[in-house]
Amino acid sequence: MAGTEFYGAEERKEINDVLETGVFFRFNHDAQRNNIWKAREFEAEVAKLVGARFAHAVSSGSTAVSCALTAAGVGAGDEVIVPPFTYIATVEAVIFAGALPVFAEIDETLCLSAEGIIKAITPKTKAICLVHMCGQMAQMDEIMQVVKDHNLILVEDAGQAMAAGFKGTSTGLFGTTGCYSFDFFKIATAGEGGVMVTNSETAYKLADNYSDHGHNHEGNNRGMESHPILGFNYRISELHAAIGLAQTRRVPMIRDVNNRHKKFMMSELGKIPGVSFATIPDMDGDSATFLNMFLPDTATAQRTVDELNINGVAGFNYWFTNMYHFINQWNHIKEGHVAAKTNVQLLGAPQDYKNLDLPKTQETVGRLISFGIKATWTEEEVKSLVEKMSVCIKSAMYQTV
Ligand SMILES: Cc1ncc(COP(=O)(O)O)c(C=O)c1O
Repeated sequence: MAGTEFYGAEERKEINDVLETGVFFRFNHDAQRNNIWKAREFEAEVAKLVGARFAHAVSSGSTAVSCALTAAGVGAGDEVIVPPFTYIATVEAVIFAGALPVFAEIDETLCLSAEGIIKAITPKTKAICLVHMCGQMAQMDEIMQVVKDHNLILVEDAGQAMAAGFKGTSTGLFGTTGCYSFDFFKIATAGEGGVMVTNSETAYKLADNYSDHGHNHEGNNRGMESHPILGFNYRISELHAAIGLAQTRRVPMIRDVNNRHKKFMMSELGKIPGVSFATIPDMDGDSATFLNMFLPDTATAQRTVDELNINGVAGFNYWFTNMYHFINQWNHIKEGHVAAKTNVQLLGAPQDYKNLDLPKTQETVGRLISFGIKATWTEEEVKSLVEKMSVCIKSAMYQTV
């Protein structure tokens, strides 16, 4: 929860600017707003941080994924390769775009693997929605090769990985479009918010129109703007953008401190035989919001979770049993529980969702425990946490079932 650890005077100042004008709407009202444009400033700050040509702020990370898919041209009936380990918003966005999710294997990066993607490709595959999980990044060299070889659209859901990158390129900027979440749990929060990024002017304009009922945002008479495309309301408010702006400025500091803590934790915990860590394809590109630790097998990981709970060690996620991040618990998707028919029901699922064969994903997520890293930790607090974790891990390792 790094962003929220630092909520303070800077955020209050940005919010106050908006409160003083009373213009909470991000567009128009030029005379009243006293030149306060927080959504625009927020977008410029995110673009600067990640090195994007364009950034477009919306109401959430989920709506940012929707914008990213639509602006990249993913729509009705398209097969989109997605990971079975992600926050469920990725899959929902694909389904609500009218497209059909196809689940593929991840690897030790916690992201889709090139090998997994290749196996999932069919003649109907239009795109990959790659998710950079747990603050880290996918193996981008191999994945970009697959994108090129198979002429696919790449959309990146970097909801959990803003400020991460691979060989100097930020997550979110390898594909046609990418996006970040600014919800309460991310490296920077806007309260609620999301940002779509792209280097394509066409995709940017489509997202800008799509996220506001098709408005083209030209001139200062909203009711008379033209609407080049059909859209919907995914707008961010000026108040949310104001917080997001102040928080985004803090990200380089948070990333540096997180990396220091994570490296220390890895060096200490790595001394325990049997403990390893999720692969980080570019150590310099880690946003380090999570320490992602592997135990030798699922049973040991589950025993470690029990030990952590018994000993009151908090702040970790065991994704394998999490309702929202792992396919094993997504019964509503597997059984088609929807409020109203989607294209999955209309056209038929592209895979047998109830009987997916994803052994690599099962064993990878089964062995994984992720600890959220706090940039406000003192060195003593990190040391003390590592000591407590070590006791629990060792106790779980040496237990026999
Ligand atoms: C990978 C990923 N994508 C999308 C989202 C959705 O973001 P939000 O909660 O801002 O809608 C999240 C949120 O956790 C996420 O982790």
